[in-house]
Amino acid sequence: MAHLLITGGAGFIGSHTCLVLLEAGHSLAVLDNFTNSSPESLRRVVELAGPSAGRRLEVVRGDVRSHEDLKQAFEVAPVDGVLHFAGLKAVGESMSQPLRYWDTNVGGSRSLLSAMAAHDCRTLVFSSSATLYGYPDTVPIPESAPVRPINPYGHTKAAVERMLGDLAASEPGWRIACLRYFNPVGAHPSGRIGEDPNGIPNNLFPFISQVAVGRRACLDVFGGDWPTADGSGVRDYIHVMDLAEGHLATLDALLTSGEQLLTLNLGSGRGYSVLEVINTFRAISGKAVPYTIASRRDGDAAITVADPQLAEQRLGWKTKRNLHDICRDGWAWQQANPKGYSR
Ligand code: NAD
Ligand code: UD1
Repeated sequence: MAHLLITGGAGFIGSHTCLVLLEAGHSLAVLDNFTNSSPESLRRVVELAGPSAGRRLEVVRGDVRSHEDLKQAFEVAPVDGVLHFAGLKAVGESMSQPLRYWDTNVGGSRSLLSAMAAHDCRTLVFSSSATLYGYPDTVPIPESAPVRPINPYGHTKAAVERMLGDLAASEPGWRIACLRYFNPVGAHPSGRIGEDPNGIPNNLFPFISQVAVGRRACLDVFGGDWPTADGSGVRDYIHVMDLAEGHLATLDALLTSGEQLLTLNLGSGRGYSVLEVINTFRAISGKAVPYTIASRRDGDAAITVADPQLAEQRLGWKTKRNLHDICRDGWAWQQANPKGYSR
């Protein structure tokens, strides 16, 4: 069993991954400054993971950019590998506050890498994003597609991938995976942990859930004239538990192979339109989801869908859950926690 450092482990994807890692028997130190999360998520992770889990999860409240905080996190126990989720992720905010995004996402990653080298830990799983493909030329999108981000958030992800490539090439011993997530959604089936966006959600899935639960009146569908079957945008939605299991598979692959640098799409390979998501959510929740067709949102592509074959080849991993499972589990979380963790 490994001892792992999880940056940003209290957040949406980090908390679900912590649960899967604890269930696999690993011990964890979580470094999080709770800027976009609540310690309550980790309390619930421990509750779900069972009696011994509390002794295997140490929480360090701190910032990934801080040398002192990183030192504290590395001193919990010798670290075999790091999963780096900590970062800022709102596209619109990244356009109005680019320096904050470069500082946290790129500066934070750089500080983390220095601390890893200082503590002789060279195994890293990095949360990258399909956002770095920008407007793709072809779908499904393979990892070999051009990296052409179209906003500062995407630029920071591309910059970190570049930094990791340089590092992997600089000396033997680094084992690095860049995981390009497509659209992570859903929740743990217990309804105890899930996505808890701050303020008005930017993303489709939490917006639909909040309309269904009565927190918001109506959804804007951004564009009804896309070149898709029903005119609404198509995305590759991946259940967050599939994504969490993808991290476990990646970690196993890194810890058991001599791989220096692995860059993988994590997606299902199946696209759903906005209207399909609304209709499935309505059918499962039994709630109305009123919507109006609005104009297209700047920066949106018509269709983004992963080519997930490389991840299957390299990790023996593929998604198991479908849109029905996503809506069922997302709704269970939203219904039981209409105000999220209520921070
Ligand atoms: P999230 O905001 O829920 O989680 C991020 C966590 O990092 C939060 O707990 C936050 O408090 C913490 N954090 C932020 N800045 C920090 C700092 N300076 N020091 C320490 N902790 C800090 O986001 P998420 O959806 O779980 O995303 C996790 C990662 O995956 C991010 O890097 C994000 O860019 C990437 N990603 C997310 C998506 C998505 O749709 N959710 C898609 C692609 C990539
Ligand atoms: C967005 C980000 C992307 C980020 C990803 C995950 C943009 C342009 N892209 O991806 O960089 O990695 O989130 O966090 O912001 N939609 C509506 N109404 C809404 C919200 C969304 O119709 O209120 C539509 C969108 O037009 C899109 C689909 O739903 O067709 C999914 O949107 P969203 O959940 O925001 O994800 P992405 O835009 O794919």
